[in-house]
Amino acid sequence: MQVELRGLTKRFGPVVANRAVDLVLKPGEVLGLLGENGAGKSTLMNMLCGLYTPDEGEILIDGQPVHFKGPGEAIAAGIGMVHQHFMLVPVFSVVENVVLGIEPTKRLDFLDLAKAREQVREIGRQYGLEVDPDALIESLPVGVQQRVEIIKVLFRSADVLILDEPTAVLTPQEVQEFFEIVRSLRDDGKAIVFITHKLNEILEIADRISVLRNGEIVGEGDPADLTKETLAEMMVGRPVSLSLGKTARAPGETILDVRNLVVLRDDDRMAVDNISLSIHSGEIVGLAGVQGNGQSALIEAITGLRQAASGTVTYLGEDITGVSVRKRHRMGIAHIPEDRLRSGLIADFTIAENMVLDTYYDDRFAQAGQVVWTRAERWAAKAASEFDIRTPSVFLKAGNLSGGNQQKLIVARELSRETKLVVAAQPTRGLDVGSIEYIHRRLLAARDEGDGILIMSSELDEILALSDRILVMFKGRIVAEFDAREAPPDKSAVGLSMAGMAA
Ligand SMILES: Nc1ncnc2c1ncn2[C@@H]1O[C@H](COP(=O)(O)OP(=O)(O)OP(=O)(O)O)[C@@H](O)[C@H]1O
Ligand SMILES: [Mg+2]
Repeated sequence: MQVELRGLTKRFGPVVANRAVDLVLKPGEVLGLLGENGAGKSTLMNMLCGLYTPDEGEILIDGQPVHFKGPGEAIAAGIGMVHQHFMLVPVFSVVENVVLGIEPTKRLDFLDLAKAREQVREIGRQYGLEVDPDALIESLPVGVQQRVEIIKVLFRSADVLILDEPTAVLTPQEVQEFFEIVRSLRDDGKAIVFITHKLNEILEIADRISVLRNGEIVGEGDPADLTKETLAEMMVGRPVSLSLGKTARAPGETILDVRNLVVLRDDDRMAVDNISLSIHSGEIVGLAGVQGNGQSALIEAITGLRQAASGTVTYLGEDITGVSVRKRHRMGIAHIPEDRLRSGLIADFTIAENMVLDTYYDDRFAQAGQVVWTRAERWAAKAASEFDIRTPSVFLKAGNLSGGNQQKLIVARELSRETKLVVAAQPTRGLDVGSIEYIHRRLLAARDEGDGILIMSSELDEILALSDRILVMFKGRIVAEFDAREAPPDKSAVGLSMAGMAA
């Protein structure tokens, strides 16, 4: 089945998210779709999967124009999408999520569910997407949840699969497994659209690449003829420096001191097992580790989102182990959380409201206990322009920003106030190369102004590029420490210790 997009245009008020876009998807081919944050990738694919109606242009399947009135019709025509932010119901099982939305037509009785379970297993076997049909979604790692999203689309017999930033939340190991799945789908004759900001990934997996800028296609090519540098330049419209040029700096006083910290998971299992560490002024400490080795719990305990079972957290000489999140925040601790939609922002609030989410009570914005909104809005507009948040105004709901611009909103909020300690978890997840460059420079600038910085990232390259010192976590403990002040340590040595092997 061949799909053709012809002259597709989509506007949101003053924003032209897509302008006269032409694109062809062919069976047995992976089309890589690239573009800056807000370039219009998700919007374009949302039209193809029936979520949005184009303002102009048309979609043709095997030469015939189609007009989808909703995702149901697109799916019936064989087009399925795995969205940038997962849409699974956490308290339902895998098979319940897979059948969700199609069960009323078939009357889901006991037998249907049994049949669906068998089909889930069959799809799993066919494409290497193994998952237990009865597992609860919330109990599964994101990499497996990802598989469920794909099974859901395949269950509806899609011939065209749209994958919107599928690797953003995966570990490097999971990415390789995921590529195997994508290849087996392609070899089975599916047409695949693959959206990512990771240039090396797109060069590895795509058969053809199209680049969007400001809603328009600005370039197309064969990965064999392209490099990371040429792709970055096509996307941004100017050359992008892909290296940071960090200079060594001597660390100063102790900002944060963690002693014998023990933190438990929700189910009382050990997450952080007696960790001690300190972070100094003018120092970036990178926290490396395979996801699920306690890094998130450690960060939650430092920022106050999770209680410590024992041990102490000392900040600027003061014991803050039992201190509230708000108080920590007021003391100058910034936090860029791992999961932007769950703990970073409120999708239904405007950009301005989100920008002052944790400072609205401040003298800068409030008078006699009342928020003076003009002040907040002026400040938000300034931060938005500084951090290049692509939006027509600060009155837009944060949920209507593109994914990467939501991330920039959180980073802008946290880095634009007085801080002494910045705790950044996955700070550049979902950002385009230009934005990553900018955020990295801001983090370095904060370091050079004397902040202590803790960065957790599943991108080892990001840790290596930024850190002055690297701590590796494995099974709740710090198992290795690397000095990276003068030069980054050997990548494979860090990788080995991440796998629990002595470096
Ligand atoms: N429902 C909406 N209402 C208003 N504006 C919207 C809506 N959806 C998208 N936009 C705007 O359309 C533009 C394109 O957004 P889109 O989400 O398609 O970008 P993207 O290329 O997917 O970016 P990212 O890499 O950050 O995910 C942005 O300016 C965005 O704010
Ligand atoms: Mg997007």
